[in-house]
Amino acid sequence: MRTSLSPELNQFAADVLAGLSASPKFLSSKYFYDDEGTRLFQEIMKLPEYYLTGCEHEIFSTHAAEIYRSFANCGSEFDLIELGAGDGSKTSVLIDHFLHQTEKISYTAIDISQEALDTLTFKFSEEFPSLKVFARRGDYFRILESLKSPDKPRKIIMFLGSNIGNFSRQQSVDFFRSLRAVMDDSDVLFLGFDLQKDPRVIVPAYDDADGVTAAFNLNLLSRINRELGGNFDIDKFSHYANYRPVEGSARSYLISRERQSVQISALNRSFEFEQWEAIFMEISQKYSLKIISDLAAESGFRIKENFIDGRNFYCNSLWRPL
Ligand SMILES: C[S@@+](CC[C@H](N)C(=O)[O-])C[C@H]1O[C@@H](n2cnc3c(N)ncnc32)[C@H](O)[C@@H]1O
Repeated sequence: MRTSLSPELNQFAADVLAGLSASPKFLSSKYFYDDEGTRLFQEIMKLPEYYLTGCEHEIFSTHAAEIYRSFANCGSEFDLIELGAGDGSKTSVLIDHFLHQTEKISYTAIDISQEALDTLTFKFSEEFPSLKVFARRGDYFRILESLKSPDKPRKIIMFLGSNIGNFSRQQSVDFFRSLRAVMDDSDVLFLGFDLQKDPRVIVPAYDDADGVTAAFNLNLLSRINRELGGNFDIDKFSHYANYRPVEGSARSYLISRERQSVQISALNRSFEFEQWEAIFMEISQKYSLKIISDLAAESGFRIKENFIDGRNFYCNSLWRPL
């Protein structure tokens, strides 16, 4: 590996090396979100097939008053901290309602994507000039420790958009436990979970008719070309998504259309692909209410309230430390 790379690029290079050397090959979904990936994800959120955004939007619009009561918990001051905030478009529905009740809130967005944070801070400064907004760029796994703040108002930690679905079950429990470790007893977690449903509704959300989800996945190969000097020929890979109803998980892959060799200069290595060999790109886990309550108990929380959309597609779950 080249030693002249920045620490961030070095980590990207190391993860790409590990993923493309493994059998089966894989790439980490956290690298989807360079500027182009963030822009494509904003397009995905507007797709009719990507029902998740509409469901969470509906829950926030319908239940904003109850959510506010649960967050304020009789006092009014609290800090909203959003992990993997994206462009904050759904969160703005809640903030708009909250600011009609109190001025005593602040909002911190944590995201790995500078493009997402720039879009969010610009939008929020226009929409909510009185709101204190803090943007922190970084990996939420690394930033957790700095969330400990005993003298500050109560924390509402939000992890929306079913982001948690990209983790394995064990990673989810470990993640929730590390969140618990930086929370005070009166803090709460507000989570978005995509629920199990007809597989014929789920699959198009990850494989839409206009090919935006395909472009989003393929962009990671272009990112490797741009940042690590790869020579992936994007036309020689195709995107494929499926849903495994027994495990309740949607999976996305990039499939090599032909036998080929790909050179990545930052790694000083080439990688061989058999015809129809797959790179595993992403898991998007779907949940039942029972699984959500098991996860809460296993991670040191209890469910205070669940908010569900009209079609029973999606659940925002509010957790309190046990
Ligand atoms: C699926 S999008 C969801 C965005 C937003 N929460 C929503 O519901 O619309 C995931 C977001 O998490 C960010 N992200 C992914 N992995 C991350 C990580 N390890 N640390 C910080 N942010 C991350 C991405 O940049 C992206 O903005």
